[in-house]
Amino acid sequence: MAINPPKLKIPLVDNERLQNLKNEFERHYGESPNFYACAPGRVNLIGEHIDYCGFSVLPMAIEQNIFAAVSVNNSGTIQLANMNPRYNNITLSCSEEIVIDRTNPKWYYYFLCGVKGIQETFGITRLSGMSCVIDGNVPPSSGLSSSSALVCCAGLVTTEANQKSLSRVALAEICAKCEQYIGTEGGGMDQSISFLAEKGTAKLIEFEPLRAIDVQLPAGAVFVISNCCLEMNKAASSHYNVRVVECRIATKMLGQAKGLNQKGLLKLAQLQKEMNTSSEEMLLLVDEVLHPEPYSREEICKALGITSQQFSTELLSANTQHDVGSVAVTHFKLHQRAKHVYGEASRVLRFKNVCDCKPAESIQLLGDLMNQSHASCRDLYECSCPELDQLVDICLKSGAVGSRLTGAGWGGCAVSMVPSDKVQSFLQAVREAYYLPDPRRAAMEKQSLFVTKPGGGAAIYVEG
Ligand code: GLA
Repeated sequence: MAINPPKLKIPLVDNERLQNLKNEFERHYGESPNFYACAPGRVNLIGEHIDYCGFSVLPMAIEQNIFAAVSVNNSGTIQLANMNPRYNNITLSCSEEIVIDRTNPKWYYYFLCGVKGIQETFGITRLSGMSCVIDGNVPPSSGLSSSSALVCCAGLVTTEANQKSLSRVALAEICAKCEQYIGTEGGGMDQSISFLAEKGTAKLIEFEPLRAIDVQLPAGAVFVISNCCLEMNKAASSHYNVRVVECRIATKMLGQAKGLNQKGLLKLAQLQKEMNTSSEEMLLLVDEVLHPEPYSREEICKALGITSQQFSTELLSANTQHDVGSVAVTHFKLHQRAKHVYGEASRVLRFKNVCDCKPAESIQLLGDLMNQSHASCRDLYECSCPELDQLVDICLKSGAVGSRLTGAGWGGCAVSMVPSDKVQSFLQAVREAYYLPDPRRAAMEKQSLFVTKPGGGAAIYVEG
C-alpha cells in the first residue's frame, strides 16, 4: 500500500481552490509547483479519548483538508507560506536542526513536526530544498483535526520531496509519533484516519498493530457537524495531557491491585488484554479498586510504592510537570477517567456491530450510543464545556437522534446523527437556536454547521 508513487492526476481548470493555490504559489515564488499533497481532517463518530489508551476508535475523514503546493529545488531552504494571511511566512535552512518550542506553539510547528518525523525515519542529514504554499479549510482548533492534517500533509510532502516511499500505515504511525514534538501526548486516531480513510466509508481504527476496517454507516441518516465557536487549542493548555496521565496512573493502580507486573504497563487496553477479560468486567474492577474522590500525588506514590521523583519522571508528561498555562495538577480523578475509557471502548464495538448487523432500529441504537458517549465525556471525563453541552442539547431538540462532542473537546465541534428526511428542518432549527441569536456565532455559521460524508485519505497529485 505504498502511497508515493503513484500520484493522482488532478485537473485544475474546474477547481477554483487549487487554481488559486497555484496562482499564489507562482506569484510568491516565481515558479510553478511540481506537485500537490493533501491530507483531510476528520470527525470522530464515537470513541473519544481512548486511542491513547490503546482502544479502537471510529472516525471518518471529512471533505475539508490541508492542501500544499510544492516545488523541490536546490535553494538549501524550506520555505513555507500560507494562503491565510493570519499565518506568517517562514524560511529555514535545510542544514539547521529542526527545533520545536513547546512553550510557544506557532502554526508552522505542525508542519515542522511532519518534516522532522520523516527526516528521522530515514536519517536524512540534508533535506531537499522546497517551497510550499499551504491552504487549509479545516476550521482550526475545532476538534476536526486541522493540526494533525497539517502534520500528515507535511509528512507526505517531505517523503515525496526527498524521493522516499512509505506505506500509508507507516506514514500514519510516523506522523502520530512526530506530532508529539508539539508537547501533546495524542493517540494515533487523527493521523491514521487522515492516511487510511476511503471515500464512502467510516473506519474502525485499531492500534497495535494499526489497521483500519470499513464501517458502512446506515442509509437513512446523515452526520452533521456543528461548531460551538469556542476554540480549543490542546497544545496551549494541560487539560489533554492531564487526562493521558490520569489514564496511565489508573492503569498502574489497577494493575497493582491485580498483582500484575508493572513494567511497561501503561495503557488501560493493555491491562484488559493481560487480564483477558471484557470491558464490563473491567468496569466492575474499576469500581472495586478505585475510589471516586480525587487522588493526591502522595496517595498514588504510597499505593504504587514509588517516590515523588519517580512519579514525575515515569508518570507525568512534560506538559503536566511544567504545567503549561494552568495551575499545577495536584489531584487525579482516576475512577471517573477509567470508567469513561472502558465504557467508551465498549460503545465503539457496539456501534460497529450495529453498523455491521443493520437491525431495523439501527439509527436509534447508534443515536443512543452517541448520546451515552456525550454524557460520559461530560460527566466522567469532563472534556465538554457549557457551550458544547448547550449545542448538543439544541441538536437533540432539533431532530438529531444522537449528538455528541467530537475530538478532544473543551470547545470545538459536536457531531449529530440526523434522519435524512429531517436534515433541512434540523439545520434551520439549530441555526435559529444556536447561531443567529449571537452575532459572533452568526458570522461563523456558514463554516460552522454542515452535513458531512466519509471522505478519502491523504494523496499526492500532479496537475493533469
Ligand atoms: C485529539 C487527539 C486524538 C484523540 C482525540 C480525543 O484529537 O489528537 O488522538 O485522543 O483528541 O479522542
